[in-house]
Amino acid sequence: MSGIYVAGTGMYVPPMVVTNDDLAKLVDTSDEWITERTGIRQRRFSQGAPTWVLGREAALQAIENAGIEAGEIDMIIACSVTSDYCTPSLACMLQREIGAESAACWDMNAACSGFIFALDAAYRYLATGGASTILIVCSEVLSRITDFEDRSTCVLFGDGAGAVVVKKDEGRLFESCVRSQGKSGGALFARSGKFTSPFVKKEEIEKYDLFRENPGCHLVMEGREVYRFAVAAMPEMINNVCEKAGIPCGDLDWVIPHQANIRIIKTAAERLHIGMEKMVINLDRYGNTSCASIPMCLDELNRSGRLKRGARIALAGFGAGLTCGAIVLEW
Ligand code: ACO
Repeated sequence: MSGIYVAGTGMYVPPMVVTNDDLAKLVDTSDEWITERTGIRQRRFSQGAPTWVLGREAALQAIENAGIEAGEIDMIIACSVTSDYCTPSLACMLQREIGAESAACWDMNAACSGFIFALDAAYRYLATGGASTILIVCSEVLSRITDFEDRSTCVLFGDGAGAVVVKKDEGRLFESCVRSQGKSGGALFARSGKFTSPFVKKEEIEKYDLFRENPGCHLVMEGREVYRFAVAAMPEMINNVCEKAGIPCGDLDWVIPHQANIRIIKTAAERLHIGMEKMVINLDRYGNTSCASIPMCLDELNRSGRLKRGARIALAGFGAGLTCGAIVLEW
C-alpha cells in the first residue's frame, strides 16, 4: 500500500504557565517529587478557552504550514477526551470555525492514543481514495476533568492542541499498528456525565456503574497499572511497526512517544536500544496533554528545522481504554 505525506503541522497551548511550585500550593507535593518521578516541570492551563478554541488555533497553523486553503480539506478527524459538547462533534465545530465546507467531519476517542488511531484511519481513507486531504486535530482541556485535590493525578496533565494535514504519497513508507485492552478500562477513566432522567432509580444507576467506588466526573487513574502497561506496550508497538516496515529500530531518525512520564520514555528507549537524543520530549514544558502530545511534538520538531526529507519517524502512544499503537512514517 502507498504511504502518506504530512503536508503541515500546527499546535497551540494556552498562555497560562503553571509550575510545580504552583501546584504544591494546592496539594501536598513538591517540585522535586514531580520532576524526579515524571520529568514534568510546568504545564499550560486554559483560563476558560474551551477545547474547540485550542483545536481551532492548532488547525489554522497546520493549514498555513501545509500551504493549502481550508476548502481543499475533504475530511476532519478530531480527537479529544474533553470535547465541549456531546453533539455537535468537535470536528464539526472546527469545520465551522475554519470554513472547511467540503469536509466530512467525525470524532474519535482513543484517549492518549488518539493521534495514532486517527492517523491510522486517515491513512486508510487516503489509500482507498475515500479522501485526498485530511486534517487531524487533537485538542484537550484536561484541566476541566482534573481533580485538583488529588496529588497523584493533578500534577501530570496539561492543556494543549496539535494538528496535522495529511495527503497520500505513493512513494513514502508507512506502517501502523493499533490495539486495545478494554478489560483494563478501570485503570484510567472519567465519567462523561450523570444519569439525570426522572424515570430511573438511584439503585439502578449504581447497579450498572462499573466504577461506582469513584462516583465523581474527574479523571481517576491507577498510575502503577498504567505505567506497567505503557513500558511494555511502547517498545512492543514500535518493534512491531519497524518489523512490518522492514527497518531495524536503530535506523529510526526520531521517535515521538506519548508524553506521560520521562521514566516510561527512558525505559522504552533502553528496551529498543535507541539513544535518548532521538526521543522527542516536550513533557517538561507541557505535561501530559493526552492525544495532543504527539502532534505537538511533531510540530515542534518540524518547525525546529531538524526534520529532513526522508527522515524515518516512529510515533507511539498509549492511554485510557486501555489503548496503544505505533506508526512509522517517512518525512
Ligand atoms: N507528590 C508527592 N507524593 C506523591 C504524589 C505527588 N504528586 N503522587 C503520589 N505520591 C506518593 C504516593 O502517595 C505514594 O506514597 P506512599 O508510598 O506513601 O503510598 C508515593 O508517592 C509513590 O506513589 P506511586 O504511585 O508508586 O508513584 P510512582 O513512582 O508510580 O509515580 C506516577 C506515580 C507518576 C503516576 C506513575 O505511576 C506514572 O507515571 N504512571 C503512568 C501514568 C500515565 O502514563 N498516565 C497517563 C496515561 S495517558 C491517558 O490516557 C490520560
